[in-house]
Amino acid sequence: MHRGGRLSIAGRRQRNGSRTLTLFDPVDLGTLALKSRIVMAPMTRNRAGPGNVPGPLAATYYAQRASAGLVITEATQVAPEGQGYPDTPGLHSTEQTDGWRRVVDAVHEAGAPIVAQLFHVGRISHPLFQPERRLPVAPSPIRPAGSCYGPDWTKIPYETPAELDRGGIDRIVRQFGAAAANARAAGFDGVEIHAGNGYLVDQFLRDGTNRRSDGYGGPPENRARFLVEILEAVTAAWGGGDRIGVRLSPWNGYNDMADSDPAAAFPRFGGAVAGFGLAYVHVIEPADAGTPIARRISAAAGAPLIVNGGHDGASAARAVAAGAADAVSFARWYIANPDLPARLRAGLPLAEPDKATIYGGGAKGYTDYPPAG
Ligand SMILES: Cc1cc2nc3c(=O)[nH]c(=O)nc-3n(C[C@H](O)[C@H](O)[C@H](O)COP(=O)(O)O)c2cc1C
Repeated sequence: MHRGGRLSIAGRRQRNGSRTLTLFDPVDLGTLALKSRIVMAPMTRNRAGPGNVPGPLAATYYAQRASAGLVITEATQVAPEGQGYPDTPGLHSTEQTDGWRRVVDAVHEAGAPIVAQLFHVGRISHPLFQPERRLPVAPSPIRPAGSCYGPDWTKIPYETPAELDRGGIDRIVRQFGAAAANARAAGFDGVEIHAGNGYLVDQFLRDGTNRRSDGYGGPPENRARFLVEILEAVTAAWGGGDRIGVRLSPWNGYNDMADSDPAAAFPRFGGAVAGFGLAYVHVIEPADAGTPIARRISAAAGAPLIVNGGHDGASAARAVAAGAADAVSFARWYIANPDLPARLRAGLPLAEPDKATIYGGGAKGYTDYPPAG
């Protein structure tokens, strides 16, 4: 069986027999078998029910999008302390696991594999979300600029997080392992560790938020240690890495993030996770990035590559044909185009989402976007 990553060498045209690869060719990411190279990117929609349990609407929403080669869920907290937004789902309780099982069954019935994106928000939280109103935690006590939405959607300024000690790090690593085990029990095809967009793992990776002087700070290999320990726990729960992905965002400043040298550090993060035999790395890199590094990261990790960020059908097709990616994920286009692959294949116009109904609410702007025609 071929693995997408082995086939793919940056800059070389990808051929399937004598034919250039298209978005509609199947690909294996580890042991995840995708019918096409079009992936639904993770998107937070803030519609979990009481107890942060995903409900029947979530099952409908994801099943409607199962013509994708792979569905990645919205970011899902591994523990109550990992929450930083209203009504985001978790995977730490029995009720949540049961709720996800109904989502997974619906997506499988509709024909796609689905992986759970697991996260802990770290400093991108507020005491109002925390058990006993404790401070959120982070690698270093650095307050993010700006404000967040509290549980009732009122804007509140961030607070300075508490620096994690060794015991706290170990606890969160175990929480990732337990949530990965729950994902497996729910029937998911795999899990994606969210190591991007300024959440806790990313706060360790990038030096703007990690000022530690212990074994978790300093050179990139140390900053990757928390991610590596999480992968040890998660791959133990799954019996290997071939259904586990990692999401990275070298460039974006979202959630007040920065790194002094992403082009040097991120391929080293890839090298740090090379031992796990990962199913894929999922790199957010603008479609028009001047000097792309996503393929260098995936090559260092020895894993296939999903790229993301501002793609349309044409740019995604070019990325796959050129071997710059094994698959391409789409987020915003998936909001209002549940049948995105069919529309891309037929060259149909894409529907624009209603901005007012993206975060929170019910069926409106969630499950009521029709397929084309
Ligand atoms: C409504 C919305 C919610 C998002 N939620 C998540 C999330 O939960 N996890 C994540 O990794 N990225 C999240 N993202 C980022 C997207 O996955 C993606 O990286 C970004 O939108 C760029 O891709 P696009 O140009 O195809 O939209 C979200 C984006 C949007 C628009």
